[in-house]
Amino acid sequence: MKLPQRVKLVEVGPRDGLQNEKQIVGAAIKVELIERLAASGLSVIEAASFVSPRWVPQMADGSEVLRALLTSPQRRPTVAYPVLTPNLKGFDAAVEAGAEEVAIFAAASETFSQKNINCSIGESLKRFAAVVDAASALDIRVRGYVSCVVACPYEGAVDPAKPAWVAKQLRDMGCHEVSLGDTIGAGTPAAIQRMIEACATVVPLERLAGHYHDTYGMAIANIYASLELGMAVFDSSIGGLGGCPYAVGATGNVATEDVVFLMHGLGIETGVDMEQLLNAGQFIARHLGREPGSKVARALLARCDHRQDG
Ligand code: HMG
Ligand code: MG
Repeated sequence: MKLPQRVKLVEVGPRDGLQNEKQIVGAAIKVELIERLAASGLSVIEAASFVSPRWVPQMADGSEVLRALLTSPQRRPTVAYPVLTPNLKGFDAAVEAGAEEVAIFAAASETFSQKNINCSIGESLKRFAAVVDAASALDIRVRGYVSCVVACPYEGAVDPAKPAWVAKQLRDMGCHEVSLGDTIGAGTPAAIQRMIEACATVVPLERLAGHYHDTYGMAIANIYASLELGMAVFDSSIGGLGGCPYAVGATGNVATEDVVFLMHGLGIETGVDMEQLLNAGQFIARHLGREPGSKVARALLARCDHRQDG
């Protein structure tokens, strides 16, 4: 077993995290959060969604957020800000706001596809192909997601052949990376490994990413199981924020602070500075009026308070 020396982290807190917050977070707060995350060294930060504001009101200000980030004097040219685009309407709006990278999101379960984007898997792939064509004409990179890779909130356990098939369609379309979403966090290490092995037979492993929600507390174990297979790209959310509004009861993604702590403990480079990351996590936790959801953040901050008290 040889673990990767370096991993890429894709921060999804400002999108996957905040999309599930009932209380609307203003665009200026979103922008400040994202800039603090960028200051920590994260090189990919999913900034917004260009979906229907009726479906996900929290993401209605995507254009304002993206424009502010791209025109900010503090902009770091090495940081990418992909945004979710479910169809050409969303893609056009994202391009209008200056998007340089977008993400499309399919599912391995028919019922989830209907509940999340109001169409079948087959229909969604047609819409996504149109988005990828339009994006490639403008030299815009497209990332693909597959939701419900091990379990669906409506249909239960999902056969690994299903996410593998959808992942291949997304890769064949031209997605540079396909992120495998355990949307409800029900996966355990053996199931995750079986699913990755199935996907890696049709998409090169280095093009696959793990996107694990932490509903059952299994996400860190699942990341370790994925590292064992050589996976080196993981999605995570600052403070463990979030969930999917169409997967009731599912909690946030694995916390970025926890993933960085794991990686650094294993001697794996992330390029992320923990102190700056804690700062970003505290900023949004304070704004939402709660403690950071990351165990690592709470432990490190408590140690810090203890030192200051002493
Ligand atoms: P629809 O109702 O079928 O769309 O929704 P439609 O084409 O029939 O249009 C209906 C109305 O929506 C029209 O407006 C359109 O203009 C408008 P009206 O004429 O009624 O005023 N519309 C849009 N408005 C803004 N932006 C757009 C857009 N498209 C149509 N892009 C749609 C289909 C996909 C839009 C809808 O179902 C939707 O927005 N769903 C939200 C999906 C979502 O954001 N889910 C959460 C993100 S996915 C996730 O979290 C999983 C992930 O993290 C991985 C994992 O964890 O598994 C990625
Ligand atoms: Mg998600």
